[in-house]
Amino acid sequence: MTTAFTAAIVEAQRGGAKYRRIVDAMLDEMRHKPQGERLPSERVLAERFEVSRMTLRQALDELEQAGWIERVHGSGTFVRRPVVSLGQVLTSFTQDMRARGLTPSATLLGFDVVPAPAEVASELGLPAGEEVVWIERLRFAEGEPMCVEVSHFPIRFRQLLETGDLESSVHDLLRGSGVNIASLVRRVCARTATSRTARLLDLSDNASTLEIDDVFADDSQQPVQHARSYYRPDRYVVSVQVRAHADAPTEVRA
Ligand code: GLP
Repeated sequence: MTTAFTAAIVEAQRGGAKYRRIVDAMLDEMRHKPQGERLPSERVLAERFEVSRMTLRQALDELEQAGWIERVHGSGTFVRRPVVSLGQVLTSFTQDMRARGLTPSATLLGFDVVPAPAEVASELGLPAGEEVVWIERLRFAEGEPMCVEVSHFPIRFRQLLETGDLESSVHDLLRGSGVNIASLVRRVCARTATSRTARLLDLSDNASTLEIDDVFADDSQQPVQHARSYYRPDRYVVSVQVRAHADAPTEVRA
């Protein structure tokens, strides 16, 4: 093995350690900078971290790929926040956040036992007016509001939810009690935020939100949760796998 080849390997390894140090340091800073803030130039950052422009660019490439910065040609580099893609896999809010390297948290806004509203009763397969558990939460990622979530659960989960930690994962609570959340029917639409929702999500009045209606069921197709969540539209994208065949079953919901 030639000396030059060995030197190149060593440089790449050193560059790897430096590159990782830059990504970790900048990631920590991005979390505390407001979206849209302009970052120093590549030259200034390379000098600050005492690395080559190439090593710095590698670090910026990773941060941009992860959604934490955006480089605009001729303008500069700006702080962004990762956009969470809600795709084809049945996931919880907690799992969605962790998948993007974001720390989830929640504030419990309300908990009660109420007569099921007609739409909720229908979605949960219950008689209208049947008692259900109502939970409202404000969900965060890295301390930033992401969605307001209003959930209803069949009354059989009352004790579990009354005693569980509702500021962490409700799906983990359900799974821990032996419920296998096996299916999800999801509907998504744009919805103008109420002034309360806009305030909770740190949005301007009349801002749009993504309204996501979820009905989760267990492995015997018994509904276990209806949730209507209002997501910040700048933080989410919904991806849908569309079947190619005209005869694919389509579901038209009233
Ligand atoms: C998704 C759904 C919510 C559901 C949540 C459970 O985000 N859209 O309706 O309540 O998962 O998340 P967690 O288990 O983190 O509480």
